[in-house]
Order: sequence, then C-alpha cells, then structure tokens
Amino acid sequence: MIIDPSFINSFVKATERAAYGASLFKGKKDKIAADQAAVDEMRKELNKINMMGKIVIGEGEMDEAPMLYINELVGKKNGDAFDIAVDPLEGTNFTANNLPNALAVLAVARKGNLLNAPDMYMEKIAVGPNLPFNLVDLDFSVEKNIKLLAKAKNISPFEINACVLKRSRHNKIVKDLTKMGVKIKFISDGDVSGVISVGFDKKIDIYLGVGGAPEGVLAAAALKCLGCQMQTRLSYQNKVDQIRAKKMGIKDLNKKYSINDMVKGDVIFCATGVTDGDFVNGIKDNGETFSSETLVLHDSSKTNKIIRNKIKK
Ligand code: FBP
Repeated sequence: MIIDPSFINSFVKATERAAYGASLFKGKKDKIAADQAAVDEMRKELNKINMMGKIVIGEGEMDEAPMLYINELVGKKNGDAFDIAVDPLEGTNFTANNLPNALAVLAVARKGNLLNAPDMYMEKIAVGPNLPFNLVDLDFSVEKNIKLLAKAKNISPFEINACVLKRSRHNKIVKDLTKMGVKIKFISDGDVSGVISVGFDKKIDIYLGVGGAPEGVLAAAALKCLGCQMQTRLSYQNKVDQIRAKKMGIKDLNKKYSINDMVKGDVIFCATGVTDGDFVNGIKDNGETFSSETLVLHDSSKTNKIIRNKIKK
C-alpha cells in the first residue's frame, strides 16, 4: 500500500524545524545541545501529524533517550500507521564546527516495513542506478567489486570514484582501492550523504565501508527512491552488540540486507540542510523567518525534488 503524497509536507516540516533548531548551535562547539534542539523540534512537528507513528530508528532505547526513543509513539494517534526512522541531526560534529553537510533526516514507511536496526555499526556497499542486479557484494574482495563495476560501466578501474568515511578501520579498503588506481573521496562524517551520493553525484560510483546502522537504513530509504543498489550487514564490536541485536528481533546475526530487506514497500525520505552541503543548502536566518532547503524523495509518486521554504520562526 502506498503512502499518500499529501503526507510529504508534514514530514518536511519535521526536518525543517529540526534543522532550524540545530542551526542555532552552528559553530558553537556543543554537539549535544545541537542534537537536543533538533530532537525537540522534530518531535514537536511529528506530534502534529494525523497518524499513528512509531519511531523504529531514533535516539536510542527508551532507558537511554528521553525523546524520539525506539518504540516511542508519535503523531496524533489517529489515521495511518507508520514506521519512522529519524536522525534529527546527522553530522553533530559538522554542526558544532560549522562545517558542510549537516542534515536533519527522516524516513517513513508503512507499519512493519522498516528494519529495526540497532544503534551499532553496519558494513555498507552501494552503487548507483541502471546497473545489473546484485552486481557488487560485501563478500567479494574490493578488487572484484571494482572490476565488476568498471566492466558494467564500460570504464577502467582508474575512472571509478569511490566515497569512503575516513576511519582507520577502512585502511585495508583504502589500500586496495589505491592499488587499483580508484579515486577516493574521503568524508570525515555523515555517511547518509556519502551513501546517497551514488544516486546523485555522477562523480561517485561506489560507497564502501562501515558506519552507523541507523544511518544505513536511512540511506537505504533514499536509495530505494533513486533506483540504486545497496547491501549491508550488521557489524558487532562485542558480544553485547550481538545480544542487543537479538533483543531487537534480529534472528540471523550475519544476514546481508538488500534495500528491500531494509525498506519494504513505499517510502518517503526527507533531508533538510543544517549547514550547506552536497545536496541542499543549510538554514539561513532572515530575522523573523528562516529559509530552508529539503531534499524530498517518495518512491511511489517518483518525487525527487528540493523544497525551498521561508518559515516564520
Ligand atoms: P552523528 O551525527 O550522530 O555524530 O554521526 C555521524 C556519523 O559520521 C554517521 O554519519 C556515521 O554513520 C557514523 O557517525 C560513523 O561513526 P563513527 O564516528 O563512530 O565512525
């Protein structure tokens, strides 16, 4: 069952307000306050929507997050039942240091249709649209994936551009890519933007690496609307992670997830810029109002647009 496009504007308001809240802390070196402001604002807006919403990806489990915690019910508790994944501030460091690419993000699917990903790490590999199905795989070597991708695109590995989060855990991936002459765009944070760049940025052919699982599901929602491919697998740091995953209903701990395993059916994705970024500009303060830019994707209505609004504070 599709999600009525008339819901889009209400969800856009939630990321717009969250982005505005966070923007008040741009460059103030306080990522916790920036995140809290985004959470407060997003929650207020979500609670104005006629829906029975459930946060399935949020700020943490009930005992560790007072607001937008996993399983929190949001909305006016009437109407359609939705699963909602939120990252009110994706890029807390970016905001605290007034750096590009901080976003307020959410994704909405019908009840039961989003993977309830625990807040832990996840392996990710993503490629753009119009490629053979199941082309790349987390179990293939970097070399094999790059060769397959280059062949499918009819280019040489030298012409491939990869996006990688700059972390020491990715040293081996970086070494393998470099050996093949692949150009690497490093990002310091913000892998939602990094992953979805395969769907927009003609200069990024593949995203590889380990980042947050919640961010993985959010990026999968966007890539579903953009006809891209992504494969993920939860990455456990210790036994406690495995117990947490089981508690959240993950049966096969080593399962490789496709986009359709993470996001079933129709989905809406909204991302409002907090600071200027690759896809959208950040919040501009105009005195009595603020201006915002939101990337909006909706699978069933094939919506893919930037909504620009001027909003009363
Ligand atoms: P926050 O905005 O919550 O700080 O997350 C930023 C982020 O870079 C994500 O985009 C990414 O998935 C994750 O952190 C990576 O985690 P780590 O910094 O532990 O490598």
